Amino acid sequence: MDKVLENRICLLIKEMTLEEKTGMIHGAGLFRTAGVERIHIPPLKMSDGPMGVRSEFVNDQWMPVGTPDDYVTYCPSNSAIAMTWNRKLARNAGKVLGEEARGRGKDVILAPGINIKRTPACGRNFEYISEDPRLTSELAVPIVRGIETSDVAACVKHFAMNNQETERLWVNVEADERTMREIYFPAFQAVVQKAGAKSIMGSYNLIRGTHVCENKDIMGTVLRKEWGFDGTIISDWGAVHTTKGTAEGSLDIEMSVTSDFDDYFLANPLISEIRKGHIDEACVDEKVRNILRMMVRLHMIELTEVPDSDGKKKILVQKNKNRKAGSYNTAKHRFEVLKVARESITLLKNEDRKLPLDPAIDKVLVIGQNAVISQAMGGGSAEIKALYEITPLLGISKFLGGNCEVRYARGYDIPAKKESDHNWQEDSLDASKAAAETAKETEDSARLRKEAVELAKEYKHVIYVGGLNHDQDLEGQDRADLTLPYGQDRLITELLEVRPDMTIVMLAGSPVSMKPWADRAKAIVWMSYSGMEGGTALAEVLFGAVNPSGKLAETLPEEIPECFRKEAYFPGRPLTDEEKKHMNAHLTQTYAEGIFVGYRYYEKNRIPVQFCFGHGLSYTDFTYDNLKIEEIPSKARANGFDVQLQVRNVGALEGKETVQLYLGEKTVSPENPVKELKAFEKICLRPRETKTVLLKITMEDFMHYDEAAGTWRLKHGDYRIYVGSSLQDIQLTQDITI
Ligand code: BGC
Repeated sequence: MDKVLENRICLLIKEMTLEEKTGMIHGAGLFRTAGVERIHIPPLKMSDGPMGVRSEFVNDQWMPVGTPDDYVTYCPSNSAIAMTWNRKLARNAGKVLGEEARGRGKDVILAPGINIKRTPACGRNFEYISEDPRLTSELAVPIVRGIETSDVAACVKHFAMNNQETERLWVNVEADERTMREIYFPAFQAVVQKAGAKSIMGSYNLIRGTHVCENKDIMGTVLRKEWGFDGTIISDWGAVHTTKGTAEGSLDIEMSVTSDFDDYFLANPLISEIRKGHIDEACVDEKVRNILRMMVRLHMIELTEVPDSDGKKKILVQKNKNRKAGSYNTAKHRFEVLKVARESITLLKNEDRKLPLDPAIDKVLVIGQNAVISQAMGGGSAEIKALYEITPLLGISKFLGGNCEVRYARGYDIPAKKESDHNWQEDSLDASKAAAETAKETEDSARLRKEAVELAKEYKHVIYVGGLNHDQDLEGQDRADLTLPYGQDRLITELLEVRPDMTIVMLAGSPVSMKPWADRAKAIVWMSYSGMEGGTALAEVLFGAVNPSGKLAETLPEEIPECFRKEAYFPGRPLTDEEKKHMNAHLTQTYAEGIFVGYRYYEKNRIPVQFCFGHGLSYTDFTYDNLKIEEIPSKARANGFDVQLQVRNVGALEGKETVQLYLGEKTVSPENPVKELKAFEKICLRPRETKTVLLKITMEDFMHYDEAAGTWRLKHGDYRIYVGSSLQDIQLTQDITI
């Protein structure tokens, strides 16, 4: 702690009126606080979100300003960044976002989203990284560091246990302590302690009966005390529900979606409660202290000590002239996001080495709406006003050039959504308005399907680009199942009958079922919302200019397991509006599966999946050899292990491989997962090159949280170390005794 700074902040706060201080702890615009003009404290300016800096809104209305100077670089979503398994690219992606945020004059960027993907049906999974806490932590830390290099705060969201969109404002999560500590908390702890994240967003939901933003256990004990977080806690928009509970809790800033800023819980109602003596003004001081500390760290302001007229010390607030200025829409940013997109594309299946396609082909038929629709302006608060977006069709056409005839067929219809005169966010606190529309096959689709199938007969090379879009991967709603929308299963099945070697590209932000046709398909490529250069990257991969190196950051299951289905969320009945008005009426979602989330669940229950966690092929082949495990020496006790092995590229092309290390008990006890990801390294190998890979595991990696004792414990016994190319493609194993 910087004592000089803390003293100055205290002195400054003493000079401020109650009104001035409260102005700093609640929204005075949809994306800003008030600031204190009298003493030159600027407002705090924020913007969404994970895929770039969101467009500018009118201060008190959900209406875009509509000027052309808020176009930005459209960055790959976190689900895409995750598939790179590349810490350096994650950092660069964060750096682009931070520079753009600063370039647009922002102080806080509401990103990244790092909630664990508990159910494959969660509408916001595209904004999140993984189902695995280690992979999430390892990538979230560089993203946050990257963002914050530009004197902008990352506001890491949504802390905590916000793992579904259904009733997100009112769902009460009941999970045992071990589950929270081992699965849902580690990434948040890592961004606080390893990346020094400057702000955290409090989520909408309740945990153990109390809304997170006023939950003293979660925000106070865990985040502030245990993890030592001294940055700013900002509420999700409309996640605050009381004045006293919130004022006396750890949250610093209340934000919301309505424009009655003075009536926010931490605005006039707070002032009046303090004046009545019901709340101690010190609560406000504490929040202002956290905010000012962040402003100084962001180089927004400098605090200097000057003597005033009667010789007493006075604090002068000045603009810090050395603050980084940022930049947006630079050529460098576009190149950085292209590099991320390239490494995010994941080759799921490549029977008979159908891919890559020959770039010298004469003609190719591209089918499917995801080849042509723009994805940037969708998804909810993650929407982006992209400077441009290279769609897959544009990417393929510009890659192939003028000697190839590229024909396009839609294949299916996307029914137009009802136009609303409201911005969705304006209504986002009213759950009744968030009803999901189910996408059905329309008559048009039947005609488009027939047309596409007829055309496919004429083209030897067919590339299908379908999947989901932001009508499904969307804030505020979850999917009921994993079925592909718009009758795509039937279309793909019929296309495969006439073109069995068709290349299938699934573009989605969360899993879909490919069960009806995956066995018959020869080449399947998986990609997520990959930013403005996504189409360029896809074409490069399909035609072999880039060797794919993406790996799945989440399991692609055949269907949603029972306990993670939407109807399982609320076995009772939905809340009535009347009930919602009362704080204690809420619906409870019990995380009965405990720590068995994602692959931990499928492995334990021996449920076959379509494509496992960590899976992703290359156009070249790798062999694994010479596993050596050595204890890291230490005087007092073993610190951990150095795990070494050699990987060789035995194919003819340069390629990248992500070596994954999983750890499990030799004889697995029912309370523990079969194996868990503990380390990984991505390497690049030229043809016939061999590299030694070093993976480190610490004693903490062997520990589990002991609920009864309230601490982490190391169980002595035999463990197995698995090293391989995916969760299921294990190449080397060795047992060790602790
Ligand atoms: C979302 C947040 C977002 C905020 C501001 C909320 O609806 O949950 O992720 O940052 O809106 O747009």
